[in-house]
Amino acid sequence: MEGIREKINKLKREKNAVILAHSYQNIEIDEVADYVGDSLYLSRMAAKTDADIIVFAGVYFMAQTAKILCPQKKVLLPDLNAGCAMADMINLNQLREFKSKNPDIKTVCYINSTAEVKSECDICCTSSNAPEIVKNLQADKVLFLPDKNLGRWVEKQLKNVQVITYDGYCPIHHNITVEDVLKIKKENPGVKLLAHPECKEEVSSLADFVGSTTAIMDFVKESCDNKYIIATEKGVVDRLKRDYPEKEFELIKENLICSSMKVNTLEDIYNSLNNETHEIKVEEETSRKALKCIERMLEVSK
Ligand code: 13P
Ligand code: SF4
Repeated sequence: MEGIREKINKLKREKNAVILAHSYQNIEIDEVADYVGDSLYLSRMAAKTDADIIVFAGVYFMAQTAKILCPQKKVLLPDLNAGCAMADMINLNQLREFKSKNPDIKTVCYINSTAEVKSECDICCTSSNAPEIVKNLQADKVLFLPDKNLGRWVEKQLKNVQVITYDGYCPIHHNITVEDVLKIKKENPGVKLLAHPECKEEVSSLADFVGSTTAIMDFVKESCDNKYIIATEKGVVDRLKRDYPEKEFELIKENLICSSMKVNTLEDIYNSLNNETHEIKVEEETSRKALKCIERMLEVSK
């Protein structure tokens, strides 16, 4: 009998579809995904695919970004409940208020934001290019939203730019404390800590390397240590264990799980592709303005 993977692959061929999967997804999704990686990589793949249908195994803002980049394609999100708690921390009214309190300052939005928010920001960034994007603005001050932790980390990297941050954060990464770092470092002396920049600044500053999900995985690929401590969502550790069975990986603390990222199963991917649900739509004017914000980022960050 045909298994679920074969059924998905058959549908992909019949419908000229691709599956993009974020590295926090349940790991079995990788077996049917055409591209797996971080937000920047997936945005780039969405922009260049010639498929007619994109199934986005990720969260809402990611599928929305793919739709903005390819308005002529059908973009599907298997589960509409897959939101991002951080992206939901700022809406258009809150953005306008933030901007009005800090007038005439360029606004940088993290890709983890809604299309409406992007449509009123100057440029977008992801966790893998945030310092580069802010530096490129050549400004003394910038507004950064929604992630205050990423904003603080960017400011520290650049030194001569004041980053005024909105009070948003990722509940999963924000939950990692200095005590967690000190405890695991004590248990694993000399083991490198690799952290996502959504962690609190005081946690990032104790890390040996800070980078996006793909950057963390690339760091492991390029270094020869036998063990690492990982401070990001569990999906990254699952993939590292799969890809480097000879090495050891410690998730910095238990339950670093983004429940929105974990909603998808292979069954959901199959249903999404088979029934062509749930189609993501973005209002035309919003999409046009948000596209400028995203394209500026893609131009700067080649
Ligand atoms: P990446 O930019 O590493 O894909 O991170 C996105 C994200 O949502 C992390 O929580
Ligand atoms: Fe959003 Fe955090 Fe989940 Fe990333 S891990 S999608 S920032 S809630």
